[in-house]
Amino acid sequence: MRIRRCSIVFIEPRETLSFDLNSLLSGGNGLHSQRQWLALAPHLEAEVEIGADERELLGAVGAHAWLPAEDVRALAPQACEALLQAGLLIGDDEARAAHRERDEAVRAAHWWPPAALAHRMARWQGTDSAAAMDENELTTAAEIRRRLGAPPPHVVERAPAAARLPLPRLDDGEFERLLARRATCRNFDAARALPYERFARMLRRVFAAQAQVRISDDTVFLKKHTPSGGGLHATEAYLIVQNVDGVAPGLYHYHPVEHALEPMPAPAAPLAEFAAQAVAGQHWFADAHALAVLAPRYARSFWKYRRHAKAYRALLLDSGHLSQTLYLSATELGLGAFVTSAINEVDIERGFGLDPLAEGPLAVCGFGWRGERMGTSEFDPAGAVWPRD
Ligand SMILES: Cc1cc2nc3c(=O)[nH]c(=O)nc-3n(C[C@H](O)[C@H](O)[C@H](O)COP(=O)(O)O)c2cc1C
Repeated sequence: MRIRRCSIVFIEPRETLSFDLNSLLSGGNGLHSQRQWLALAPHLEAEVEIGADERELLGAVGAHAWLPAEDVRALAPQACEALLQAGLLIGDDEARAAHRERDEAVRAAHWWPPAALAHRMARWQGTDSAAAMDENELTTAAEIRRRLGAPPPHVVERAPAAARLPLPRLDDGEFERLLARRATCRNFDAARALPYERFARMLRRVFAAQAQVRISDDTVFLKKHTPSGGGLHATEAYLIVQNVDGVAPGLYHYHPVEHALEPMPAPAAPLAEFAAQAVAGQHWFADAHALAVLAPRYARSFWKYRRHAKAYRALLLDSGHLSQTLYLSATELGLGAFVTSAINEVDIERGFGLDPLAEGPLAVCGFGWRGERMGTSEFDPAGAVWPRD
């Protein structure tokens, strides 16, 4: 067998503080401090605690050239075995195929290493963020103020008032009126199906390609209504369709050139449960008529931006732009819309069969009919959406 190090690994000296009664009783600060060395690698499911020998060996073995296993074992036999088991050292034999394949997928995708780690580690599974907010009394703005104190001020001023150059406030046009009606919808009318035409129009506005530019047979660029870093339009829309006339409830992928739905296998959980899981228990979004999971194909972006420090950031921005197009498109059609980054990425990946580092999701947005009553609060201080009493 031959051995090399996995392609990306970061090592963290972590300190975890916990309450310690003995320390308090003996005149200390009441805190117990535990220190560990952790190896964080994006091709692995979990972080790995390592000892000093393992830490040293990771530094001694390169990530590119394969070395004879005997040479690596000779350096530190036990550490070598432990790192092979954990998947931090990669072997080229059959027994190590699973870790090797995951590592090779990371190598092939050209991730910028810190971005790969941040993406991997920020994923949630089975989180109920709505319940957590309630438990921690962090739901309303007043509660958050009480628990966390005052935020930084709502505006920043860089010149004295006398030096300001006031700008004209021109009369509102149609577009200003549309912008004013945009508000995150947290009250969908689950009893009323969304008409097929409106659903189709939404997808066409937000996710379809309006034109194509063919550089060669294997290199095509799409033109869409939303800007995209590098013009690559790497972000795919995976749909959870719950209540649309003429579309069977289920999971779909949207084809941006054909403007068509591609049915996908049903998730393991019932659809409504899966939708709620996707938006991390935020029941105010879970019953939207259609939800769109925004999931970039990282390799398409990193084809151009290899190990590039800005590439992941550009993809985050792409999702933000798509969600704004979705909000405005929905508002113009008389529908409500939302976006959330509080999502259970792992559950979504399993539901749609997506590999986290190849096409893991960044956000979920959704749209549908607004309800007639505001059960969950929305931010509509000007009364542009909800009539004021
Ligand atoms: C990136 C992003 C993430 C958001 N995540 C959530 C969320 O997890 N839950 C939620 O209720 N609203 C979420 N929102 C909506 C914001 O709370 C909302 O935009 C804000 O309160 C202002 O209200 P407005 O959109 O009606 O103007 C998110 C918005 C953005 C842009």
